[in-house]
Amino acid sequence: MTPSPVIELRDAGKSYPGGVHALRGVNLTVEEGELVAVVGPSGSGKSTMLNVMGTLDRPTTGTVKVAGYDVSELSDSRLSALRARHIGFVFQHFHLAAGRDAVDNVADGLLYAGVALRERRERAREALAGVGLERRLSHTPDELSGGEKQRVAIARALVGKPGLLLADEPTGALDTASGAIVMELLHELNASGTTICVITHDQAIADALPRRVRFRDGEIVSDSRAMRPTGDRG
Ligand SMILES: Nc1ncnc2c1ncn2[C@@H]1O[C@H](COP(=O)(O)OP(=O)(O)OP(=O)(O)O)[C@@H](O)[C@H]1O
Ligand SMILES: [Mg+2]
Repeated sequence: MTPSPVIELRDAGKSYPGGVHALRGVNLTVEEGELVAVVGPSGSGKSTMLNVMGTLDRPTTGTVKVAGYDVSELSDSRLSALRARHIGFVFQHFHLAAGRDAVDNVADGLLYAGVALRERRERAREALAGVGLERRLSHTPDELSGGEKQRVAIARALVGKPGLLLADEPTGALDTASGAIVMELLHELNASGTTICVITHDQAIADALPRRVRFRDGEIVSDSRAMRPTGDRG
């Protein structure tokens, strides 16, 4: 039995009023366990595609399947449930709540999972330990470095154990060293089974990932997979 792809876009298009075609008939399949870089110039449609993949936005044409479910057949509430269960998001500017400590920021990742506060916090502590922040539990965002903030955001995205992590320029606001730590973390998460799509402007980061999808003017212009060296893990 072959499992359904995690993501399947078929002729997915997204147009805005005024004739902006942010996505033009994109076909993309992401299989379980992949680690995909999405690259391309500013305005080429990368974030639009990630939002459509993540069901934050619906396509105007074509179909999007997440974990085998056709998104167009789901009501908004079913879609929110699908998203809460399967997908974690990470953004360039972290999107952490100011004035709330790391534990509570991460615990918020379980708000829609029907888990009691005490357990949400317990699981948040575990997730923070998982990203190496066990000594920063009670720090608020303004008491954390950029790289630490992004690790908190990653812990929040993962605390519900989604199969898919979507990251839009997760290193875009970080210095090289902090960015490298975040990318190392994404590699580790992928090695332990999380499927990941990451938008990046950084060619070196993209080159280090096993699959690269390149965008231009709302279309995929190339999709390349690195050969796995023999003797690689897995
Ligand atoms: N809500 C909107 N209304 C109208 N046009 C939009 C909207 N959102 C995005 N666009 C347009 O769609 C195109 C694709 O935008 P998108 O944000 O996907 O680009 P991107 O590749 O992520 O760029 P960047 O690298 O700068 O983040 C752009 O031309 C943008 O101006
Ligand atoms: Mg973008």
